[in-house]
Amino acid sequence: MPPPKIVVTERLPEPALELLRGAGSVWAPGEDGPLAPEALRAAVRGAAGVVTLLYDRVDEALLDAAGPQLRVVANVAVGYDNVDVRACAARGVAVTNTPGVLTEATADLALALLLAVSRRLGEGERLVRAGTPWSWSLDFLLGDGLQGKTLGIVGLGQIGRATARRARACGMSIAYCGPRRADAAVEAELGARYLPFPQLLADADAVSLHCPLNDGTRHLIDADALVRMKPSAYLVNTSRGPVVDEEALVRSLRAGTIAGAALDVHEHEPAVHPGLLELENVVLLPHLGSATRETRTAMAVLAARNVAAVLRGEPPLTPVVAS
Ligand code: GLV
Repeated sequence: MPPPKIVVTERLPEPALELLRGAGSVWAPGEDGPLAPEALRAAVRGAAGVVTLLYDRVDEALLDAAGPQLRVVANVAVGYDNVDVRACAARGVAVTNTPGVLTEATADLALALLLAVSRRLGEGERLVRAGTPWSWSLDFLLGDGLQGKTLGIVGLGQIGRATARRARACGMSIAYCGPRRADAAVEAELGARYLPFPQLLADADAVSLHCPLNDGTRHLIDADALVRMKPSAYLVNTSRGPVVDEEALVRSLRAGTIAGAALDVHEHEPAVHPGLLELENVVLLPHLGSATRETRTAMAVLAARNVAAVLRGEPPLTPVVAS
């Protein structure tokens, strides 16, 4: 029997490729960057395993194109909103993601964004790079301190908890909301108060989003939510862009409904809302949450281990379960 075909939709770090070569015959695109949907469908034809990135849509069309021998889709991301998990389950295709290995890197970035927006780092950097004359003075580019403030965490999963730990180190207290209450031990460790979402918005000095994107969280932060936040509050998003209604956010930032926003992810990625680009009180990054060398390698290796396990007939290490 020929070795099973494994498709990777973008070149992966060598340790992951090495694992995949041990599990089958690997096809990878010659160039970096997303494959167009037709190219992706052509590539997966006959594959037993596919390693996808968060911009690859895994839908009925892709599953049809792959064929009935497909056994596993391994998404190199903790989020899996790009994958139709139910359609995969209906065809007996395992879906896996990469939880755990990117927790600390993403939480580091959430804290970095909170500091960047509250201490106006982007504004300062732009000013220096523009060669604008400046001198130290008591009221020059003043921001807000974090000590004694409340961080509202939307979604106290692994990344939310890791962000809360960092915020506590900065002297913040923690409130959180989510579909269910965390264990008492987690609440005790973080000193975290469980609040209904509207109350969290009203109480927090900064709101950090750590929820998955799904039908319940799309545009969770809309005009109504923004108006509930304090005018002095900041919004940080390292989850998925569509959790925030960017039109509403731009209107709120222009009107001073909230003090600022720091976004690693964007509603129509890789496009960035032009209204955001014009605003000084916004920090914008190109989806860098897990972008450390160590983390990206660990993510790719975990995806490869998942593919290898399923193709050996073993259960996947980090399966995504259809809800
Ligand atoms: C990145 O955004 C991820 O979901 O891992």
